[in-house]
Amino acid sequence: MIELTQETVHDWWEVEALYDLCFAPGRTALSSYRLRDDVDPIASLCFVARDAEGIVAGVIRNWPVYVGDHLAILLGPVAVHPTRQGEGIAGILIRKVLNRAWELGWSRVMLVGDYPYYRRYGFFHLSGVVMPPPTNPDRVLGYDLVPGAWVGVTGNVTRAPDCNPRGRPYLESHEPKRVSPA
Ligand SMILES: CC(C)(COP(=O)(O)OP(=O)(O)OC[C@H]1O[C@@H](n2cnc3c(N)ncnc32)[C@H](O)[C@@H]1OP(=O)(O)O)[C@@H](O)C(=O)NCCC(=O)NCCS
Repeated sequence: MIELTQETVHDWWEVEALYDLCFAPGRTALSSYRLRDDVDPIASLCFVARDAEGIVAGVIRNWPVYVGDHLAILLGPVAVHPTRQGEGIAGILIRKVLNRAWELGWSRVMLVGDYPYYRRYGFFHLSGVVMPPPTNPDRVLGYDLVPGAWVGVTGNVTRAPDCNPRGRPYLESHEPKRVSPA
């Protein structure tokens, strides 16, 4: 049994430890981390998956970014403990984020990752969306939370510190709220 909970301050070091285990040393030197500098993750889109014993099996955090003038979610990092990989835990985490992001009113999601893996969730190649170098443009992928959300959205991917400035309480975050149809 896997239980998902929103990450809290009490989970922070367990999450960091799992990222350290699952990614190569120096992960924070990756260009995507420059987009996270001094910006808090979107608290309501950060999840921890624990097994029946309470052991952390998988984690995901997400940050706001701008693509040109448009706000987007930069999905990930997502990581699953090596002993729990292949059980669908990343899928549970990613789908949870996509569903919750839609509920919160976000329109588009992007990430830097392997298309052969992420296409199963509906991610597609983005053209004209430029990550800080060095990034392989073939790994820049997008997802529509609303139809056509990426149409005409191009430009440099930049930090969104006005959306989630670091230094506010970790669990506080700004998200646009989806307005229910009348
Ligand atoms: C990538 C990762 C998150 C997947 O977690 P997971 O819980 O094992 O994923 P799921 O169980 O949902 O999916 C497993 C499937 O994805 C496939 N898969 C995993 N990584 C893949 C990749 N890079 N390319 C293509 N397929 C991949 C597996 O072969 C498996 O295929 P199957 O369903 O046909 O058996 C996990 O392997 C991990 O933590 N890796 C290290 C960190 C990382 O690279 N994170 C992603 C980049 S942000």
